[in-house]
Parts: sequence; structure tokens; C-alpha cells
Amino acid sequence: MERRHLAECGSTNTEALAHLRQGGGPLLVSASRQTAGRGRLGRVWQSDDAALTFSVALPVPAELDLAGLSLAVGCTVADTLDPGGERIRLKWPNDLFLDGAKLGGILIETAPLPAGERGVVIGVGLNLQPLPADADRRAFTSGHAALHTLDPDATATSALDRLAPALRAMLADFRTLGFAAWQAAFARRDLATGQRVRVGELTGVARGVSPRGELLLDTPAGVQACHGGELSLRLDPAP
Ligand code: BTN
Repeated sequence: MERRHLAECGSTNTEALAHLRQGGGPLLVSASRQTAGRGRLGRVWQSDDAALTFSVALPVPAELDLAGLSLAVGCTVADTLDPGGERIRLKWPNDLFLDGAKLGGILIETAPLPAGERGVVIGVGLNLQPLPADADRRAFTSGHAALHTLDPDATATSALDRLAPALRAMLADFRTLGFAAWQAAFARRDLATGQRVRVGELTGVARGVSPRGELLLDTPAGVQACHGGELSLRLDPAP
């Protein structure tokens, strides 16, 4: 996979989508600074050189089921950076937590391509360094954790050198196996399982994920399968 590094850009996801729309092949694009980084559900993703920000661009068959892709990416990032499996946890559908605070997130976007293909962009943002003491923490509603707490020697380059081959291998397997191959790996790091949560309008007890990556929510009306696209999960919802 081609690798490209930019000192600054608006968003590596935007760069990756433009690359695919111009007919480009697999690409990993990283940036030292994003001026218009974005998160899920229209949120802003604040990032500077205290974070690792990159996107993988990939043309895939149009019919490939992408429902569990963000979970498989989360498992791969967590297993690579925390092989012991004890500290990085995953919050369905796209958050990485370290010791109970948000370490990073995943934003998947797609673009239609000609000839039965679809362009997929997987954006990953990870906090490398802790917030400065005087930072305004109100914007970080899920808390803020930094990779340096886990690995004080980690740099953006060293982390990306570990993640790039792992993600490449994962994506090759995902094409043939789908999310089902990561269901057990996700279960080991699932932050919400057994807890009372809110997903969109529904509240219930999280019961893991289906082989397609849907959250299984135990509600008074029975177990409901929730799709990740437009939903996020809140832990500890008000009764
Ligand atoms: C989230 O937590 O809502 C997802 C955050 C994803 C941020 C990454 S940083 C690299 C890529 N470029 C972006 O503009 N967003 C993603």
C-alpha cells in the first residue's frame, strides 16, 4: 500500500476520498496537523502534532458488507498497540478507550466508484500526548487518554509503522471473512457489555455484538440489533 505523509491538510479523510475519486488505489495518508478534522455524527475532531491522524483509502467490491468494519479496525488497532489486551477497550461502534477515557476514534466514509466498486476510507485519530494542564477539558465529554500513558516512547511514526501492516492484513481478511472473524476479539475488549446503555432512542443492557457487528441491546421489548451508521452509545444513561 502506498504511504504518503502531509505536514498539514484539512482532513486526511478528505484527502483519501479525493484520491479514490480520482481513480487511485490503496493508500495510507497521514498528517502532522489537520485544520478541519472531523469525527462521527458531524463532530469536530481536534488534532495537532499531539495526535496520530491517518486514513486508509481502499477500493472494495460494492457488495462488501461494511457494517462491522469500524469494529474490526478497532480490534486491530487495540491488539497492535496493547497486545496484552488489558488496557485498551472498544466502545461500539467506533471509540477506543484507554483506562476508561477516550484514546481515539474511527471514522469510516465511502464514495461511489465506477465498475462495481466502492471507495472506503478508514480514518483513525489517536491521542499521543496528554492534554496540557491548562487545556479546556469541557470539549472532551468522554475524557482524554494518551498513548504515551501506555507506551512513553511512542511517536506518530513508530505507532503508524506498527499499525500499517496490521491494518493491511486485517483488510485483506475482512474482504473474505467479514466481521464474524473479529466477533470474539471485539467481545474481549467490549467496554459496554453487561452495562445499561442508551443507543439512539433505546435504552437497555448491552449484550455484545452480532456476527455483522450490530449492537445487541436487551430491552423490555426483547433483544434489538442496532446498526452503527447513525447511532452512538451512551454508557450510564439517566434512568
Ligand atoms: C470520532 O471519534 O468521532 C472519530 C474521529 C476520527 C478522526 C480521524 S483523524 C484522521 C481522519 N481524518 C478526519 O478528519 N477524521 C479522521
